[in-house]
Amino acid sequence: MRFTIKSAEPGIAGFSSQCGTSHPSIDTHVQCRYGQGVEKPRPMRNWALLGYVVLSCGARKGSPVQTTALSHHGALRLDILRHLSEHPEPFAPGAPRFWDDPHISASMLAAHLDSTNDAASRRPSVIDASVRWLLSALDLHPNHALLDLGCGPGLYSERFARAGLRVTGIDASQRSIAYARAHATERQLAIDYRHGDYLAMNFRHDFDAVVLIYGDLCALAPAQRDHLLAAISTALKADGRFALDVTTPRRHTATGDLNHWQAYDAGFWRPTPHLVLTQGFAYPDRAIFLEQYVVIDTDTTVTVYRNWFQDYTVATITEALERHGFAIDGVGSDLTGRPADPDAEWIGVVGHKR
Ligand SMILES: C[S@@+](CC[C@H](N)C(=O)[O-])C[C@H]1O[C@@H](n2cnc3c(N)ncnc32)[C@H](O)[C@@H]1O
Repeated sequence: MRFTIKSAEPGIAGFSSQCGTSHPSIDTHVQCRYGQGVEKPRPMRNWALLGYVVLSCGARKGSPVQTTALSHHGALRLDILRHLSEHPEPFAPGAPRFWDDPHISASMLAAHLDSTNDAASRRPSVIDASVRWLLSALDLHPNHALLDLGCGPGLYSERFARAGLRVTGIDASQRSIAYARAHATERQLAIDYRHGDYLAMNFRHDFDAVVLIYGDLCALAPAQRDHLLAAISTALKADGRFALDVTTPRRHTATGDLNHWQAYDAGFWRPTPHLVLTQGFAYPDRAIFLEQYVVIDTDTTVTVYRNWFQDYTVATITEALERHGFAIDGVGSDLTGRPADPDAEWIGVVGHKR
């Protein structure tokens, strides 16, 4: 299948560059913190969303053991690590709101702004190519209103604004939004940046186009995805356009299962010495993959960060979008106009509200 785009300009299709590596990036995480204090035992798998959660672990199901740290009276709690090496329930959350942790949010912003790799955002050359292509593929013209969901530090928003669009950007990271606002102000770009959760947005027929770029849809469990697609539809004017990209199972077949550790004096997760156990869990029957980062501080506190990926095929993303009243105008292997390819790790989709 190739991209077949309404009013695509000849010569615009066919950009290059491999798209992104997955990276600690996203949302819906609850912290499993083995902190201090006495907590009531909870059964295994009984994760609660209470700002943070103390995870109950047990060697046997039905005999949960409450944990305060990885060491207990001088003994290493191997049962905790054993528990964390089991596949969790799909979309069981990890540490909450870690994008607002002072250190992690700074690491994340630096990753977004690092133009040498595709870790958190794609490289500038790819972003340029995407915006150029999307302006054409979505038939966008000056003064059109565009909503950039998960705008991060505004790499796409600014480019769309420079093309004359009226841009609104939403992101859950306070730090990214603060950076994006300051950057736009310096450049005298009037972009409406909003700090918040796009799952809670309630726009009504305000936008000519909505973009959701760099796999954000994949982080959502099916019910959340459906909620977001419905909210996007409501946010769009009649016949409004959308563009989004999702990973395919290829991406995680290529990654494969992960299981390694690394000790740091300081790093992405912490400014202080810590150990990171990096794990990957595949759920091939459901096209789901989990990247799990178990961070252990020197006081033996354990925090679990999770990036869930719901991978898609052209058929499954088409089904989800059509079910929400969208028509697909083009499917490719990215958002720069590269044709669809069954071996690609990404799918880019453009379409409109029916
Ligand atoms: C992979 S990054 C992509 C950022 C940007 N689209 C880009 O490609 O440069 C995902 C972004 O979405 C934001 N995000 C994730 N979940 C969100 C939510 N529920 N509401 C608002 N922003 C969210 C994150 O803070 C992060 O900035």
